[in-house]
Amino acid sequence: MLMGMISDERPESSLDEGWLRHEGSGKSPVAIGLAGRCLVSSLLFFSCLFQVSYRLEAGVAATVHPLATRAALRAMQAGGNAVDAAVAAGLTLGVVDGFNSGIGGGCFLLVRSPRGEIMGIDGRETAPAAATRDMFLVEGVAVPEKSQSGPLAVGVPGALAAFDLALKRYGKLSLEQVILPAAELAEEGFVVNASYQRRVQGVVDALKAFPEASRLFLEAGDKAPAVGHRLIQVDLANTYRAIARDGIDYFYRGDLAHQVDHWMRDHGGVLRATDLEDYRAQLRPPIHSTYRAFQVVGFPPPSSGGVHVAQILNILDAFPLGSMDHSSADWVHLVVEAMKLAFADRAHWLGDSDYVPVPSGLVSVDYARALAASIDPKRPSKVSGHGQPPHAMKATFGSHTTHFSTADEAGWWVACTATVNTTFGSKVVVPQTGVVLNNEMDDFSAQPGRPNFFGLVGSDANAVAPGKRPLSSMSPTIVLKDGEPIYSLGAAGGPTIISQTVLHLVLMIDFGMDPQQALAHPRLHHQWQPDRLIMEEGWPDSVVMGLRRLGHEVELVPSLGVSQAVAKDMSGAFVGASDPRVEGSAQFE
Ligand code: GLY
Repeated sequence: MLMGMISDERPESSLDEGWLRHEGSGKSPVAIGLAGRCLVSSLLFFSCLFQVSYRLEAGVAATVHPLATRAALRAMQAGGNAVDAAVAAGLTLGVVDGFNSGIGGGCFLLVRSPRGEIMGIDGRETAPAAATRDMFLVEGVAVPEKSQSGPLAVGVPGALAAFDLALKRYGKLSLEQVILPAAELAEEGFVVNASYQRRVQGVVDALKAFPEASRLFLEAGDKAPAVGHRLIQVDLANTYRAIARDGIDYFYRGDLAHQVDHWMRDHGGVLRATDLEDYRAQLRPPIHSTYRAFQVVGFPPPSSGGVHVAQILNILDAFPLGSMDHSSADWVHLVVEAMKLAFADRAHWLGDSDYVPVPSGLVSVDYARALAASIDPKRPSKVSGHGQPPHAMKATFGSHTTHFSTADEAGWWVACTATVNTTFGSKVVVPQTGVVLNNEMDDFSAQPGRPNFFGLVGSDANAVAPGKRPLSSMSPTIVLKDGEPIYSLGAAGGPTIISQTVLHLVLMIDFGMDPQQALAHPRLHHQWQPDRLIMEEGWPDSVVMGLRRLGHEVELVPSLGVSQAVAKDMSGAFVGASDPRVEGSAQFE
Protein backbone atom coordinates (compact mmCIF):
# COMPACT_ATOMS: atom_id res chain seq x y z
CA MET A 1 0.00 0.00 0.00
CA LEU A 2 2.84 2.35 0.68
CA MET A 3 4.44 1.61 -2.64
CA GLY A 4 5.16 4.55 -4.86
CA MET A 5 2.26 5.47 -7.05
CA ILE A 6 3.12 7.36 -10.18
CA SER A 7 0.41 9.31 -11.89
CA ASP A 8 0.21 11.78 -14.72
CA GLU A 9 -2.47 13.67 -12.87
CA ARG A 10 -1.02 16.92 -11.61
CA PRO A 11 -3.79 18.95 -10.07
CA GLU A 12 -2.96 22.50 -9.12
CA SER A 13 -2.53 23.47 -5.52
CA SER A 14 -5.71 24.47 -3.80
CA LEU A 15 -4.31 27.95 -3.39
CA ASP A 16 -5.53 30.32 -5.97
CA GLU A 17 -5.73 34.01 -6.65
CA GLY A 18 -2.02 34.35 -6.17
CA TRP A 19 -1.61 35.49 -2.59
CA LEU A 20 -1.65 33.52 0.59
CA ARG A 21 -4.20 35.04 2.89
CA HIS A 22 -2.85 38.56 3.03
CA GLU A 23 -5.30 40.58 5.04
CA GLY A 24 -3.58 43.89 4.94
CA SER A 25 -2.50 44.34 7.97
CA GLY A 26 25.75 32.88 13.30
CA LYS A 27 25.71 29.62 13.98
CA SER A 28 26.56 26.80 11.60
CA PRO A 29 23.54 24.77 10.64
CA VAL A 30 25.52 21.83 11.93
CA ALA A 31 24.21 22.86 15.31
CA ILE A 32 20.70 22.25 14.13
CA GLY A 33 20.80 18.51 14.45
CA LEU A 34 20.05 17.03 17.81
CA ALA A 35 23.00 15.53 19.47
CA GLY A 36 22.56 11.85 18.60
CA ARG A 37 26.06 10.65 17.81
CA CYS A 38 25.35 7.17 16.53
CA LEU A 39 26.28 6.57 12.95
CA VAL A 40 23.32 6.92 10.70
CA SER A 41 24.32 3.79 8.82
CA SER A 42 23.37 1.82 11.89
CA LEU A 43 20.09 3.60 12.39
CA LEU A 44 18.01 1.17 10.42
CA PHE A 45 19.14 -1.61 12.74
CA PHE A 46 18.48 0.41 15.87
CA SER A 47 15.20 1.62 14.53
CA CYS A 48 13.86 -1.90 14.75
CA LEU A 49 14.68 -1.92 18.45
CA PHE A 50 13.97 1.64 19.51
CA GLN A 51 10.67 3.27 18.84
CA VAL A 52 8.85 5.70 21.01
CA SER A 53 5.57 4.84 19.48
CA TYR A 54 2.71 2.78 20.73
CA ARG A 55 0.25 0.80 18.74
CA LEU A 56 -3.27 0.38 19.97
CA GLU A 57 -6.46 -0.78 18.38
CA ALA A 58 -7.88 2.64 19.11
CA GLY A 59 -5.07 4.80 17.86
CA VAL A 60 -1.41 5.59 17.62
CA ALA A 61 0.97 8.27 18.87
CA ALA A 62 4.60 8.99 18.07
CA THR A 63 6.61 11.50 20.07
CA VAL A 64 10.19 12.05 21.01
CA HIS A 65 9.73 10.83 24.59
CA PRO A 66 8.11 7.64 25.96
CA LEU A 67 6.30 9.52 28.73
CA ALA A 68 4.71 11.89 26.23
CA THR A 69 3.65 9.01 24.02
CA ARG A 70 2.20 7.29 27.07
CA ALA A 71 0.29 10.45 27.99
CA ALA A 72 -1.18 10.58 24.49
CA LEU A 73 -2.37 7.01 24.68
CA ARG A 74 -3.77 7.47 28.15
CA ALA A 75 -5.81 10.39 26.85
CA MET A 76 -7.27 8.12 24.19
CA GLN A 77 -7.90 5.38 26.73
CA ALA A 78 -9.74 7.95 28.86
CA GLY A 79 -12.20 8.49 26.02
CA GLY A 80 -10.33 11.17 24.16
CA ASN A 81 -9.57 11.28 20.47
CA ALA A 82 -6.32 11.92 18.60
CA VAL A 83 -6.66 15.67 19.25
CA ASP A 84 -6.87 15.16 23.01
CA ALA A 85 -3.96 12.78 22.69
CA ALA A 86 -1.86 15.33 20.82
CA VAL A 87 -2.55 18.03 23.42
CA ALA A 88 -1.72 15.62 26.24
CA ALA A 89 1.54 14.81 24.47
CA GLY A 90 2.33 18.48 23.93
CA LEU A 91 1.76 19.38 27.57
CA THR A 92 3.82 16.39 28.73
CA LEU A 93 6.66 17.27 26.38
CA GLY A 94 6.71 20.65 28.11
CA VAL A 95 7.70 18.71 31.24
CA VAL A 96 10.07 16.03 29.95
CA ASP A 97 11.44 17.80 26.87
CA GLY A 98 11.11 21.41 27.99
CA PHE A 99 14.27 22.56 26.23
CA ASN A 100 12.45 21.94 22.96
CA SER A 101 8.87 23.02 23.55
CA GLY A 102 6.32 24.03 26.14
CA ILE A 103 3.64 26.54 27.00
CA GLY A 104 6.24 29.29 26.95
CA GLY A 105 6.63 28.65 23.22
CA GLY A 106 4.48 28.13 20.17
CA CYS A 107 3.16 25.41 17.89
CA PHE A 108 1.31 24.57 14.72
CA LEU A 109 -1.34 21.85 14.81
CA LEU A 110 -2.80 20.33 11.68
CA VAL A 111 -6.03 18.50 12.48
CA ARG A 112 -8.00 16.17 10.23
CA SER A 113 -11.54 15.35 11.31
CA PRO A 114 -13.42 12.13 10.51
CA ARG A 115 -15.54 14.17 8.08
CA GLY A 116 -12.42 14.97 6.11
CA GLU A 117 -11.99 18.62 7.11
CA ILE A 118 -8.35 19.58 7.63
CA MET A 119 -7.60 22.77 9.53
CA GLY A 120 -4.45 24.43 10.81
CA ILE A 121 -4.31 25.87 14.31
CA ASP A 122 -1.63 28.53 14.53
CA GLY A 123 -0.14 28.95 18.00
CA ARG A 124 2.94 30.73 16.73
CA GLU A 125 4.37 33.42 18.98
CA THR A 126 3.82 37.08 18.10
CA ALA A 127 6.08 40.08 18.51
CA PRO A 128 5.08 42.21 21.52
CA ALA A 129 3.26 45.46 20.73
CA ALA A 130 6.35 47.47 21.67
CA ALA A 131 8.64 45.48 19.37
CA THR A 132 10.27 47.48 16.62
CA ARG A 133 11.87 46.64 13.34
CA ASP A 134 15.36 47.64 14.49
CA MET A 135 15.17 46.42 18.06
CA PHE A 136 18.07 43.99 17.61
CA LEU A 137 20.44 46.48 15.96
CA VAL A 138 23.27 48.20 17.76
CA GLU A 139 24.89 50.99 15.77
CA GLY A 140 23.06 49.75 12.71
CA VAL A 141 24.19 46.12 12.97
CA ALA A 142 22.12 43.15 14.14
CA VAL A 143 23.44 41.66 17.40
CA PRO A 144 22.42 37.97 17.48
CA GLU A 145 22.69 37.68 21.28
CA LYS A 146 19.84 40.16 21.68
CA SER A 147 17.38 38.11 19.63
CA GLN A 148 18.64 34.75 20.87
CA SER A 149 18.59 35.03 24.65
CA GLY A 150 17.27 37.25 27.40
CA PRO A 151 14.12 39.35 27.67
CA LEU A 152 14.02 40.88 24.17
CA ALA A 153 14.22 37.45 22.54
CA VAL A 154 10.84 36.42 23.91
CA GLY A 155 7.78 36.40 21.67
CA VAL A 156 4.26 36.22 23.08
CA PRO A 157 3.74 32.48 23.66
CA GLY A 158 0.95 30.78 21.71
CA ALA A 159 1.16 27.03 22.37
CA LEU A 160 -1.30 26.97 25.27
CA ALA A 161 -3.88 29.05 23.38
CA ALA A 162 -3.55 26.71 20.40
CA PHE A 163 -3.90 23.57 22.55
CA ASP A 164 -6.98 25.06 24.19
CA LEU A 165 -8.53 25.98 20.85
CA ALA A 166 -7.81 22.48 19.52
CA LEU A 167 -9.52 20.88 22.51
CA LYS A 168 -12.53 23.18 22.40
CA ARG A 169 -13.05 22.82 18.67
CA TYR A 170 -12.17 19.18 18.11
CA GLY A 171 -11.47 17.39 21.41
CA LYS A 172 -13.57 15.28 23.74
CA LEU A 173 -11.66 15.92 26.97
CA SER A 174 -11.27 19.12 28.96
CA LEU A 175 -8.03 21.02 29.37
CA GLU A 176 -8.12 20.03 33.03
CA GLN A 177 -8.25 16.35 32.12
CA VAL A 178 -5.22 16.51 29.87
CA ILE A 179 -3.07 18.92 31.89
CA LEU A 180 -3.41 17.37 35.37
CA PRO A 181 -1.48 14.19 34.54
CA ALA A 182 1.32 16.39 33.18
CA ALA A 183 1.23 18.44 36.40
CA GLU A 184 1.64 15.23 38.41
CA LEU A 185 4.58 14.22 36.28
CA ALA A 186 6.23 17.61 36.79
CA GLU A 187 5.79 17.24 40.55
CA GLU A 188 6.90 13.61 40.80
CA GLY A 189 9.74 14.17 38.38
CA PHE A 190 11.13 12.10 35.56
CA VAL A 191 14.45 10.39 35.07
CA VAL A 192 16.96 12.32 33.00
CA ASN A 193 18.10 10.28 30.01
CA ALA A 194 21.23 10.65 27.90
CA SER A 195 19.47 12.86 25.35
CA TYR A 196 18.29 15.27 27.99
CA GLN A 197 21.66 15.33 29.69
CA ARG A 198 23.45 16.06 26.43
CA ARG A 199 21.11 18.87 25.47
CA VAL A 200 21.58 20.59 28.81
CA GLN A 201 25.32 19.98 28.61
CA GLY A 202 25.40 21.92 25.35
CA VAL A 203 24.01 25.07 26.96
CA VAL A 204 25.42 24.97 30.50
CA ASP A 205 27.39 28.19 30.08
CA ALA A 206 24.48 29.99 28.45
CA LEU A 207 22.11 28.86 31.21
CA LYS A 208 24.46 30.03 33.95
CA ALA A 209 23.74 33.64 32.98
CA PHE A 210 20.08 33.07 33.94
CA PRO A 211 19.67 32.35 37.67
CA GLU A 212 16.19 30.85 37.55
CA ALA A 213 16.94 28.56 34.61
CA SER A 214 20.20 27.49 36.33
CA ARG A 215 18.35 26.72 39.55
CA LEU A 216 15.77 24.62 37.72
CA PHE A 217 17.83 22.79 35.14
CA LEU A 218 21.45 22.66 36.35
CA GLU A 219 22.66 20.43 39.14
CA ALA A 220 24.08 22.60 41.94
CA GLY A 221 23.40 25.52 39.60
CA ASP A 222 26.40 24.85 37.42
CA LYS A 223 26.39 21.49 35.65
CA ALA A 224 24.09 19.33 33.59
CA PRO A 225 22.09 16.78 35.60
CA ALA A 226 23.52 13.28 35.53
CA VAL A 227 21.76 10.55 33.60
CA GLY A 228 19.43 8.90 36.09
CA HIS A 229 18.80 12.10 38.06
CA ARG A 230 15.10 12.68 38.83
CA LEU A 231 14.15 16.15 37.61
CA ILE A 232 11.33 17.64 39.64
CA GLN A 233 9.60 20.86 38.53
CA VAL A 234 7.33 22.03 41.34
CA ASP A 235 6.78 25.52 39.90
CA LEU A 236 5.73 24.15 36.53
CA ALA A 237 3.41 21.68 38.30
CA ASN A 238 1.80 24.58 40.16
CA THR A 239 1.40 26.57 36.93
CA TYR A 240 -0.20 23.57 35.22
CA ARG A 241 -2.55 23.09 38.19
CA ALA A 242 -3.55 26.75 38.13
CA ILE A 243 -4.32 26.42 34.41
CA ALA A 244 -6.38 23.31 35.16
CA ARG A 245 -8.33 25.35 37.69
CA ASP A 246 -8.70 28.71 35.88
CA GLY A 247 -8.26 27.74 32.25
CA ILE A 248 -5.86 29.55 29.97
CA ASP A 249 -6.91 32.88 31.48
CA TYR A 250 -4.47 32.12 34.28
CA PHE A 251 -1.69 32.31 31.70
CA TYR A 252 -2.97 35.05 29.42
CA ARG A 253 -4.82 37.34 31.86
CA GLY A 254 -4.14 36.12 35.38
CA ASP A 255 -1.26 35.83 37.81
CA LEU A 256 1.19 34.41 35.35
CA ALA A 257 0.67 37.27 32.89
CA HIS A 258 1.34 39.78 35.69
CA GLN A 259 4.43 37.93 36.90
CA VAL A 260 5.84 37.98 33.38
CA ASP A 261 4.98 41.66 33.00
CA HIS A 262 6.79 42.59 36.22
CA TRP A 263 9.85 40.57 35.39
CA MET A 264 10.07 42.03 31.90
CA ARG A 265 9.77 45.61 33.21
CA ASP A 266 12.54 44.94 35.74
CA HIS A 267 14.86 43.35 33.20
CA GLY A 268 14.51 45.57 30.14
CA GLY A 269 12.00 43.43 28.24
CA VAL A 270 9.13 44.82 26.18
CA LEU A 271 6.62 41.99 26.61
CA ARG A 272 3.65 43.15 28.70
CA ALA A 273 0.54 41.63 30.25
CA THR A 274 -1.50 43.31 27.50
CA ASP A 275 0.45 41.33 24.89
CA LEU A 276 -0.56 38.11 26.59
CA GLU A 277 -4.14 39.31 26.92
CA ASP A 278 -4.25 40.19 23.21
CA TYR A 279 -2.80 36.89 22.02
CA ARG A 280 -5.12 34.74 19.88
CA ALA A 281 -4.45 31.37 18.28
CA GLN A 282 -5.59 31.48 14.65
CA LEU A 283 -7.37 29.00 12.44
CA ARG A 284 -5.64 28.74 9.08
CA PRO A 285 -6.79 26.80 6.03
CA PRO A 286 -3.94 24.50 5.03
CA ILE A 287 -2.03 24.25 1.78
CA HIS A 288 -3.06 21.37 -0.50
CA SER A 289 -0.76 20.04 -3.17
CA THR A 290 -0.24 16.75 -4.98
CA TYR A 291 2.87 14.60 -5.24
CA ARG A 292 2.46 11.68 -7.65
CA ALA A 293 -1.05 10.46 -6.70
CA PHE A 294 -0.87 11.56 -3.07
CA GLN A 295 -2.50 14.64 -1.59
CA VAL A 296 -0.08 16.52 0.65
CA VAL A 297 -1.59 18.90 3.18
CA GLY A 298 0.76 21.35 4.86
CA PHE A 299 0.75 24.34 7.19
CA PRO A 300 0.43 27.80 5.59
CA PRO A 301 2.30 31.00 6.56
CA PRO A 302 3.56 32.04 9.05
CA SER A 303 5.07 28.63 8.48
CA SER A 304 7.28 28.41 5.44
CA GLY A 305 7.08 24.64 5.81
CA GLY A 306 3.85 23.95 3.98
CA VAL A 307 4.77 26.27 1.11
CA HIS A 308 8.23 24.89 0.54
CA VAL A 309 7.49 21.22 1.17
CA ALA A 310 4.82 21.61 -1.55
CA GLN A 311 7.13 23.61 -3.79
CA ILE A 312 10.04 21.16 -3.54
CA LEU A 313 7.75 18.17 -4.13
CA ASN A 314 6.19 19.99 -7.12
CA ILE A 315 9.67 20.46 -8.60
CA LEU A 316 10.66 16.85 -7.86
CA ASP A 317 7.45 15.59 -9.44
CA ALA A 318 9.09 16.36 -12.79
CA PHE A 319 11.82 13.75 -12.18
CA PRO A 320 11.47 9.95 -12.11
CA LEU A 321 13.01 9.71 -8.64
CA GLY A 322 11.36 6.38 -7.91
CA SER A 323 13.21 4.66 -10.73
CA MET A 324 16.59 5.99 -9.62
CA ASP A 325 18.89 4.75 -6.84
CA HIS A 326 18.13 6.80 -3.74
CA SER A 327 21.68 6.22 -2.59
CA SER A 328 23.33 7.79 -5.61
CA ALA A 329 24.92 11.17 -6.19
CA ASP A 330 22.61 11.86 -9.16
CA TRP A 331 19.49 11.34 -7.02
CA VAL A 332 20.75 13.48 -4.15
CA HIS A 333 21.80 16.16 -6.64
CA LEU A 334 18.24 16.53 -8.00
CA VAL A 335 16.74 16.74 -4.52
CA VAL A 336 19.34 19.30 -3.44
CA GLU A 337 18.85 21.49 -6.49
CA ALA A 338 15.10 21.62 -5.79
CA MET A 339 15.81 22.60 -2.16
CA LYS A 340 18.14 25.42 -3.21
CA LEU A 341 15.52 26.96 -5.47
CA ALA A 342 12.86 26.78 -2.77
CA PHE A 343 15.05 28.22 -0.01
CA ALA A 344 16.07 31.12 -2.28
CA ASP A 345 12.36 31.93 -2.62
CA ARG A 346 11.87 31.51 1.13
CA ALA A 347 14.54 34.11 1.86
CA HIS A 348 12.78 36.68 -0.30
CA TRP A 349 9.06 36.04 -0.27
CA LEU A 350 8.14 34.48 3.05
CA GLY A 351 6.82 36.20 6.15
CA ASP A 352 3.63 36.38 8.19
CA SER A 353 0.90 36.51 5.56
CA ASP A 354 -1.25 38.61 7.89
CA TYR A 355 1.34 41.36 7.39
CA VAL A 356 3.01 40.85 4.04
CA PRO A 357 1.87 39.40 0.73
CA VAL A 358 3.19 35.86 0.22
CA PRO A 359 2.64 34.68 -3.36
CA SER A 360 0.54 31.54 -3.62
CA GLY A 361 2.20 31.04 -7.02
CA LEU A 362 5.10 29.59 -5.05
CA VAL A 363 3.16 26.33 -4.92
CA SER A 364 1.84 26.46 -8.48
CA VAL A 365 2.67 23.48 -10.64
CA ASP A 366 3.52 25.68 -13.62
CA TYR A 367 6.05 27.63 -11.59
CA ALA A 368 7.55 24.36 -10.31
CA ARG A 369 7.83 23.05 -13.86
CA ALA A 370 9.74 26.16 -14.88
CA LEU A 371 12.08 25.77 -11.90
CA ALA A 372 12.52 22.06 -12.62
CA ALA A 373 13.50 22.89 -16.20
CA SER A 374 16.28 25.12 -14.86
CA ILE A 375 17.93 22.18 -13.03
CA ASP A 376 21.01 20.73 -14.71
CA PRO A 377 21.11 17.04 -13.72
CA LYS A 378 24.90 17.03 -13.94
CA ARG A 379 25.97 20.33 -12.40
CA PRO A 380 25.02 22.40 -9.35
CA SER A 381 23.30 25.58 -10.46
CA LYS A 382 24.34 28.96 -9.12
CA VAL A 383 21.07 30.19 -7.69
CA SER A 384 21.65 33.92 -7.55
CA GLY A 385 18.36 34.76 -5.86
CA HIS A 386 14.65 34.21 -5.67
CA GLY A 387 12.37 33.38 -8.59
CA GLN A 388 9.21 35.11 -9.80
CA PRO A 389 6.17 32.99 -8.98
CA PRO A 390 3.09 33.72 -11.08
CA HIS A 391 0.96 36.70 -10.06
CA ALA A 392 3.64 37.54 -7.49
CA MET A 393 2.35 41.03 -6.95
CA LYS A 394 -1.34 40.18 -7.07
CA ALA A 395 -2.04 36.98 -5.26
CA THR A 396 -0.75 35.62 -1.65
CA PHE A 397 -0.81 32.97 1.30
CA GLY A 398 -3.24 34.09 3.66
CA SER A 399 16.44 21.08 16.84
CA HIS A 400 15.23 22.37 18.66
CA THR A 401 11.60 21.99 18.47
CA THR A 402 9.65 18.77 18.59
CA HIS A 403 7.17 17.04 16.35
CA PHE A 404 4.47 14.59 17.37
CA SER A 405 1.72 12.84 15.48
CA THR A 406 -1.42 11.02 16.58
CA ALA A 407 -4.31 9.27 14.87
CA ASP A 408 -7.34 7.29 15.97
CA GLU A 409 -9.76 4.81 14.51
CA ALA A 410 -12.57 7.34 14.32
CA GLY A 411 -10.58 9.19 11.66
CA TRP A 412 -8.99 12.02 13.64
CA TRP A 413 -5.40 12.69 12.61
CA VAL A 414 -3.08 15.29 14.08
CA ALA A 415 0.36 16.55 13.09
CA CYS A 416 1.78 19.00 15.61
CA THR A 417 5.16 20.71 15.72
CA ALA A 418 5.92 22.75 18.82
CA THR A 419 8.90 24.80 19.90
CA VAL A 420 10.54 27.32 22.19
CA ASN A 421 13.03 27.75 19.30
CA THR A 422 16.62 26.96 20.37
CA THR A 423 17.55 24.90 23.45
CA PHE A 424 15.68 26.35 26.45
CA GLY A 425 14.55 29.25 24.24
CA SER A 426 15.52 32.65 25.64
CA LYS A 427 16.79 30.89 28.82
CA VAL A 428 14.40 33.13 30.70
CA VAL A 429 12.21 31.50 33.33
CA VAL A 430 10.25 34.04 35.32
CA PRO A 431 10.65 32.95 38.99
CA GLN A 432 7.88 30.78 40.41
CA THR A 433 6.37 30.00 37.01
CA GLY A 434 8.60 27.13 35.89
CA VAL A 435 7.81 28.16 32.30
CA VAL A 436 10.69 28.33 29.84
CA LEU A 437 10.11 31.35 27.62
CA ASN A 438 10.88 31.07 23.92
CA ASN A 439 13.40 33.04 21.85
CA GLU A 440 11.24 33.02 18.75
CA MET A 441 12.06 36.69 18.02
CA ASP A 442 15.25 35.29 16.43
CA ASP A 443 13.09 33.74 13.70
CA PHE A 444 12.44 37.25 12.41
CA SER A 445 15.03 38.80 10.12
CA ALA A 446 16.75 41.16 12.52
CA GLN A 447 18.24 42.79 9.44
CA PRO A 448 17.75 41.86 5.77
CA GLY A 449 20.51 39.53 4.63
CA ARG A 450 21.85 38.87 8.16
CA PRO A 451 21.66 35.19 9.10
CA ASN A 452 19.75 34.10 12.20
CA PHE A 453 20.74 31.24 14.53
CA PHE A 454 19.96 28.74 11.78
CA GLY A 455 21.98 30.62 9.19
CA LEU A 456 18.75 31.64 7.45
CA VAL A 457 18.58 34.98 5.74
CA GLY A 458 15.36 36.86 5.16
CA SER A 459 13.97 40.01 3.67
CA ASP A 460 11.63 42.81 4.69
CA ALA A 461 8.80 40.27 4.44
CA ASN A 462 10.06 38.80 7.71
CA ALA A 463 11.07 42.02 9.47
CA VAL A 464 9.93 42.57 13.09
CA ALA A 465 6.60 44.37 13.53
CA PRO A 466 4.28 44.61 16.53
CA GLY A 467 1.90 41.64 16.71
CA LYS A 468 3.52 39.93 13.71
CA ARG A 469 4.43 36.24 13.76
CA PRO A 470 8.04 35.30 12.92
CA LEU A 471 8.51 33.02 9.96
CA SER A 472 8.81 29.34 10.84
CA SER A 473 10.02 26.21 9.09
CA MET A 474 7.78 23.91 11.11
CA SER A 475 6.04 21.58 8.68
CA PRO A 476 3.33 19.44 10.24
CA THR A 477 2.01 17.47 7.27
CA ILE A 478 -0.86 15.07 6.61
CA VAL A 479 -0.89 12.94 3.46
CA LEU A 480 -3.95 11.37 1.91
CA LYS A 481 -4.44 8.77 -0.79
CA ASP A 482 -7.81 8.81 -2.51
CA GLY A 483 -9.04 11.16 0.19
CA GLU A 484 -8.08 8.85 3.08
CA PRO A 485 -5.30 9.89 5.48
CA ILE A 486 -2.28 7.60 5.46
CA TYR A 487 0.58 9.60 6.97
CA SER A 488 0.97 12.29 9.60
CA LEU A 489 4.52 13.49 9.94
CA GLY A 490 6.86 16.36 10.69
CA ALA A 491 10.23 17.14 12.18
CA ALA A 492 12.38 19.23 14.46
CA GLY A 493 15.55 21.02 13.50
CA GLY A 494 15.03 24.56 12.17
CA PRO A 495 15.16 24.74 8.37
CA THR A 496 16.11 21.06 8.12
CA ILE A 497 12.50 20.40 9.08
CA ILE A 498 11.55 21.16 5.48
CA SER A 499 14.26 18.89 4.04
CA GLN A 500 13.44 16.04 6.41
CA THR A 501 9.74 16.20 5.61
CA VAL A 502 10.38 16.23 1.86
CA LEU A 503 12.90 13.39 2.06
CA HIS A 504 10.63 11.17 4.15
CA LEU A 505 7.70 11.76 1.83
CA VAL A 506 9.77 10.95 -1.26
CA LEU A 507 11.17 7.79 0.35
CA MET A 508 7.72 6.60 1.44
CA ILE A 509 5.88 7.55 -1.74
CA ASP A 510 8.48 6.83 -4.42
CA PHE A 511 10.26 3.90 -2.75
CA GLY A 512 7.54 2.30 -0.65
CA MET A 513 9.51 2.63 2.59
CA ASP A 514 7.57 2.36 5.81
CA PRO A 515 7.90 5.35 8.17
CA GLN A 516 10.57 3.74 10.34
CA GLN A 517 12.73 2.96 7.31
CA ALA A 518 12.23 6.45 5.92
CA LEU A 519 13.15 8.06 9.25
CA ALA A 520 16.26 5.90 9.54
CA HIS A 521 17.50 6.80 6.06
CA PRO A 522 20.49 9.19 5.96
CA ARG A 523 19.42 12.81 5.55
CA LEU A 524 20.57 15.83 3.60
CA HIS A 525 19.88 19.54 3.66
CA HIS A 526 20.55 22.57 1.49
CA GLN A 527 19.10 25.98 2.31
CA TRP A 528 20.55 27.99 -0.59
CA GLN A 529 22.61 30.21 1.68
CA PRO A 530 25.18 29.26 2.82
CA ASP A 531 25.80 27.46 -0.48
CA ARG A 532 26.67 24.17 1.22
CA LEU A 533 25.17 20.71 1.14
CA ILE A 534 24.91 19.18 4.59
CA MET A 535 24.76 15.38 4.70
CA GLU A 536 24.63 12.86 7.49
CA GLU A 537 27.68 10.65 7.82
CA GLY A 538 25.63 7.56 7.00
CA TRP A 539 25.66 8.28 3.26
CA PRO A 540 28.01 5.96 1.35
CA ASP A 541 31.42 7.51 0.57
CA SER A 542 30.76 6.99 -3.13
CA VAL A 543 27.72 9.28 -2.97
CA VAL A 544 29.59 11.99 -1.10
CA MET A 545 32.52 11.76 -3.49
CA GLY A 546 30.16 11.79 -6.48
CA LEU A 547 28.49 14.96 -5.22
CA ARG A 548 31.82 16.64 -4.64
CA ARG A 549 32.83 15.69 -8.18
CA LEU A 550 29.62 17.30 -9.47
CA GLY A 551 30.75 20.50 -7.75
CA HIS A 552 28.82 20.51 -4.45
CA GLU A 553 30.52 21.71 -1.31
CA VAL A 554 29.59 18.92 1.10
CA GLU A 555 29.75 19.10 4.88
CA LEU A 556 29.24 15.87 6.83
CA VAL A 557 27.46 15.90 10.18
CA PRO A 558 26.69 13.02 12.54
CA SER A 559 22.98 13.72 12.76
CA LEU A 560 20.43 16.03 11.16
CA GLY A 561 17.10 16.71 12.86
CA VAL A 562 14.52 14.55 14.60
CA SER A 563 11.30 13.33 12.98
CA GLN A 564 8.18 11.48 14.02
CA ALA A 565 5.47 9.90 11.88
CA VAL A 566 2.35 7.80 12.16
CA ALA A 567 0.81 5.91 9.28
CA LYS A 568 -1.66 3.26 8.27
CA ASP A 569 0.05 0.15 6.96
CA MET A 570 -1.10 -2.16 4.21
CA SER A 571 -3.47 -4.00 6.48
CA GLY A 572 -5.07 -0.73 7.58
CA ALA A 573 -3.43 -0.93 11.01
CA PHE A 574 -1.78 2.08 12.58
CA VAL A 575 1.99 2.19 12.87
CA GLY A 576 4.08 4.83 14.57
CA ALA A 577 7.70 5.71 14.07
CA SER A 578 9.97 7.79 16.21
CA ASP A 579 13.36 9.01 15.15
CA PRO A 580 16.07 6.44 15.89
CA ARG A 581 18.61 9.26 16.26
CA VAL A 582 17.29 10.27 19.65
CA GLU A 583 19.08 8.29 22.30
CA GLY A 584 17.05 7.24 25.26
CA SER A 585 13.92 6.90 23.22
CA ALA A 586 13.83 3.14 23.63
CA GLN A 587 11.93 3.15 26.88
CA PHE A 588 8.67 1.41 26.30
CA GLU A 589 6.29 1.00 29.14
N1 GLY B 1 11.93 28.01 15.62
C1 GLY B 1 12.18 27.30 14.44
C2 GLY B 1 11.09 27.40 13.44
O1 GLY B 1 9.97 27.69 13.79
O2 GLY B 1 11.35 27.20 12.28
